[in-house]
Amino acid sequence: MKAIAVTPGAGVPEVVERPVPEPESGEALVRICRVGVDGTDYEVIRGTHGGVPDGDDRLVLGHEAVGVVEEANGTALEEGQYVVPTVRRPPADVETNEYFERGEPDMAPDGEYVERGIVGAHGFMAEYITSPADDLVPIPAELAQWGFLVEPISITEKAIEHARATRSAFDWRPESALVLGTGSLGLLTTAMFTQTLDYDRVYCLGRSDRPDPTIDIVERLGATYIDSRETPVPEIPDVHEPMDIVYEATGHAKHAFESIEALAPNGVAALLGVPDDWSFEVEGGRLHRELVLHNKSLVGSVNSNYGHFEAAIDTLSGLPNWVLEETVSGVYGLESVDRAFPEATAPVAAAGHGSAASSDDDTTIKTAVEFEDI
Ligand code: NAP
Ligand code: BGC
Ligand code: ZN
Repeated sequence: MKAIAVTPGAGVPEVVERPVPEPESGEALVRICRVGVDGTDYEVIRGTHGGVPDGDDRLVLGHEAVGVVEEANGTALEEGQYVVPTVRRPPADVETNEYFERGEPDMAPDGEYVERGIVGAHGFMAEYITSPADDLVPIPAELAQWGFLVEPISITEKAIEHARATRSAFDWRPESALVLGTGSLGLLTTAMFTQTLDYDRVYCLGRSDRPDPTIDIVERLGATYIDSRETPVPEIPDVHEPMDIVYEATGHAKHAFESIEALAPNGVAALLGVPDDWSFEVEGGRLHRELVLHNKSLVGSVNSNYGHFEAAIDTLSGLPNWVLEETVSGVYGLESVDRAFPEATAPVAAAGHGSAASSDDDTTIKTAVEFEDI
């Protein structure tokens, strides 16, 4: 079968031949239809995040997938049913551990999990995958074409659940939300805040010049676009308003600290970005005081579990079709895989996000690879 693999840090994704996997007891064989590409895939390709399975020098990419059950193999799944796989699995040398037993693999620390397509386990960019049936979340056929968006939406389901949990000891009534980042995670989250979470006032911060399709999406959603070059995060409360919730999806490490300044009293900031190492100065005393005297909260959030995937499917069904169509700028077959990874094929000197595909007629927001038509 065909799969898309990369040598992290040393190459671009390539189509490779691999044997069709055989399901073990409790596992199903799934024919993959579509797999999304996000910022994490580029971090894996660059070799700054994740890593290959032990004994391998290449990693099959892909952690945002939707497929169809080919062989249920005696599990409760039905052949022909569309499913979305979760990402984390126990490390190769153990069958399970306490986090997986509790159904909370997303809370496992380093070393207690692998992530398919990211760290220590091959991913879903292949014609066939096997997976424990318990890690395959059924999705209705009418949503299946967008099923690769369930995983990123589930990331926000978890982050918002944890952010809310930090505010659960009092009568918190959030009205304003600020999303940092106009990548796919930022845009999907802006869509959620405006469409399914019903925040009164939603803002989204980017750094693009108009005309730009991401700004168009933000504004069509009824959110306010903020250009970080004109209004840096700490100035947002003065120019706009202090925010009840901030959702950081830039991976720009200074935003973690600047979020504290953008929050209203009693607000919470959820941090999602995975920055590289970067040392810089912060006004620690002032920010510490600000957190304490205004009951502010900062919460980091990574990955998501089965329940978040189920919530994400529900959310997906509530998002208007146009947001999905505008956010997914291209779905490409194996013959044009390079178009699904425009940043990976850019010259090294211009390999930063957005640089490869920033011409007006070919702006990439989110892409997916298609193995089988839905
Ligand atoms: P992405 O496509 O790379 O999007 C990041 C966006 O942030 C880009 O649009 C980028 O703008 C923008 N940005 C970066 N620095 C900025 C600044 N100073 N001001 C304004 N905008 C800025 O990545 P993604 O897939 O949306 O994911 C976002 C982040 O979340 C990444 O760090 C990713 O690793 C992380 N992530 C974490 C989880 C988790 O479980 N915690 C899950 C998924 C993703 P340009 O286009 O101009 O560069
Ligand atoms: C994935 C998560 C994963 C995280 C850290 C994200 O892009 O969506 O499932 O836990 O990266 O590797
Ligand atoms: Zn991801």
